[in-house]
Amino acid sequence: MTRDYPRLLVAPPGPKARAVIAKDKAFSSPSYIKEYPLAAAGGRGAMVEDADGNRYIDWMAGIAVSATGYNHPAVVKAVQDAAGKFLHVCGTDFYYQGFSDLCERLATSAPGRGKWRAFLTNSGTEAVEGAVKLARRHTRRPALIAFQGAFHGRSYAAMSLSSSKVKYRAGFGPLLPEVYHLPFHNPYRNTVEDCVKAARELFETRVAPDDVAAVILEPLQGEGGYAIPSKEFLSFWRRICDEHGILLIFDEVQTGAGRTGKLWAAEHFGVIPDVFLTAKGLGSGLPIGAIVAKEAVMTWPRGSHGSTYGGNPVACAAALATLDLVESELAANAAKMGVRLLRGLKKLQLKRACIGDVRGLGLFIGVELVKDRKTKEPAAELMGKLEQLAFTKGLLLLGCGKSTIRVAPPLVLNDYDADKGLEIFDACLTRLAPRY
Ligand SMILES: Cc1ncc(COP(=O)(O)O)c(C=O)c1O
Repeated sequence: MTRDYPRLLVAPPGPKARAVIAKDKAFSSPSYIKEYPLAAAGGRGAMVEDADGNRYIDWMAGIAVSATGYNHPAVVKAVQDAAGKFLHVCGTDFYYQGFSDLCERLATSAPGRGKWRAFLTNSGTEAVEGAVKLARRHTRRPALIAFQGAFHGRSYAAMSLSSSKVKYRAGFGPLLPEVYHLPFHNPYRNTVEDCVKAARELFETRVAPDDVAAVILEPLQGEGGYAIPSKEFLSFWRRICDEHGILLIFDEVQTGAGRTGKLWAAEHFGVIPDVFLTAKGLGSGLPIGAIVAKEAVMTWPRGSHGSTYGGNPVACAAALATLDLVESELAANAAKMGVRLLRGLKKLQLKRACIGDVRGLGLFIGVELVKDRKTKEPAAELMGKLEQLAFTKGLLLLGCGKSTIRVAPPLVLNDYDADKGLEIFDACLTRLAPRY
């Protein structure tokens, strides 16, 4: 079969991309990151095309969002059909089919038994913000426990819970009070015992467990470095929460909607939260997220929380079509392709000392780059250079943590996208880290 990507017609950014970028630089907020000069103009499956017709294999899915690729016909049709009916009516105040369908779908997909309920949002950070309000109101307690390396978003509660990079917080204080950060378990860098010890110390010296409303964690840490904790770590927190009436909240914004090979990452561990949050991949790129909570927890009264656009009818249609695809085929494909990519990346690790660790579940894979395998010193510069070079060779990558490449492609990835991507990844490392 002939493949029409990757394809570099001009060295990126080409003239059309440069024009888009120049206008953006002139008029957009300087706070945007803009990792490298990709000016997207289209896409198909796990391929992105830029403004000059260059085509890239996509291993980043617009930060783990484009679950079904860039224009899956079933999602596009659902969006078009919904848009042709009505664009808005406000699900906080009125009723419509897609809204109730999506709430039902999410509530009945929850990993635990019993009755659950859903609150629809526009984004991940809005889901986090609402979950903090829900937890405080339900428990009538002030304190929150979050984790070092966590990323939960950019609004005030979410930013206060985050601790992946100081740039997200610098200059924005005062942040939410009563937030305590503890170590997250990353088997490459610490032990569950270290984490448990720090938790015990926190409860002995700084906050009484009975003052804690919620423990909020990403079941697999995303922005902080694609770290995969042990079941023991998550079970420890489930036990602590049960003992003290604390809510356990899983932020599945990045891990959910099939990315790890199961609908929710919690399913891998058999640890059931009281509340979980979703967004990102849920709408294949349309803005939608949710707070999904046990009915016994979602007790806030009428009018206490709402959202003008949350659960917009077009976004609901995208989410329902996405969930159909994820549940029928894409979670399974993520699991299968994840195994293929992990195998390929581990093979690269054998011959390249700069790859300290390769870990993953489904299409949530971290490749941690180090200067030295013994000291495990992060190779931050190498990560940046690898992202940039891969882009010029037709592979879209994205870093996270100090020096980890997150491999988070669309869940429609196929064998070719995996194998060709591995080839480019390897060729880039040959150029950048030849001594290995
Ligand atoms: C785990 C997690 N939670 C929350 C967020 C925030 O989501 P959003 O950017 O949609 O507000 C992100 C975004 O990267 C995330 O990875």
